[in-house]
Amino acid sequence: MIDTHAHIYLEEFAEDVETVIQSAKDAGVTKILMPNIDSTTTEDMMQLVEKYPETCYPMMGLHPCSAKIDNERELKHVEKMLNEHTFIAVGEIGTDLYWDKTFWSEQQEAFNIQCELALMHNLPIVIHCRETIDETIELVNPWVDKGLNGVFHCFGGSVEQGEKITKLGFYLGIGGISTFKNGGIDKVIPFLDKSKVLLETDSPYLSPVPHRGKRNEPAYIKLIAERIAELWETSLDEVDSVTTMNTERLFKL
Ligand code: NI
Repeated sequence: MIDTHAHIYLEEFAEDVETVIQSAKDAGVTKILMPNIDSTTTEDMMQLVEKYPETCYPMMGLHPCSAKIDNERELKHVEKMLNEHTFIAVGEIGTDLYWDKTFWSEQQEAFNIQCELALMHNLPIVIHCRETIDETIELVNPWVDKGLNGVFHCFGGSVEQGEKITKLGFYLGIGGISTFKNGGIDKVIPFLDKSKVLLETDSPYLSPVPHRGKRNEPAYIKLIAERIAELWETSLDEVDSVTTMNTERLFKL
């Protein structure tokens, strides 16, 4: 299995990242894809890549919650890193109106600039959108014709929204919320295009049941895969093989 979204370079893992990576391997996780947040997280992320090049794969991007007044400097950093290092995607980028609506125009601008960078470097994008699925589908639309592809990470939308996204050729990242009793996404998962579903933990956030509320880690991807297998009425092996193929296709692994 591949965890397509884990921030294991954050301080939550500073004490025991080695153990965390070993537990992930023991649970059947072969690769961990790491989205960047902003210029303050890049160095720690790249250090992990250097230490675990077979397991940890980096992305480069500016997270929408960090897209504020410092955009110009932050985007220069993204551009420079993309020019100087190898990444598997531009991410995570996108929009978020959950905490703060002040920087909506800055978020959109940063998103569009990073879509352009993704095209230039021939990379997929990893999208964060909170309270903004419809707005983000609108933003992505013009880029699809230019050949851009990517994933809506931590998808929590409706069957209709899922269909709109997969019809654009984009993928849907499914995480721990699928295991929550009141998550809602469990009603949607059976109807999603299986060839467009990816597994993700979003570590250290959104731990699946029975770890809900505690630190999340890539080893728990198995709990998410088991939940999807249950909802698809299929085996864990089948979910593993389909989502791994989807991930390898999108990220050209
Ligand atoms: Ni994230």
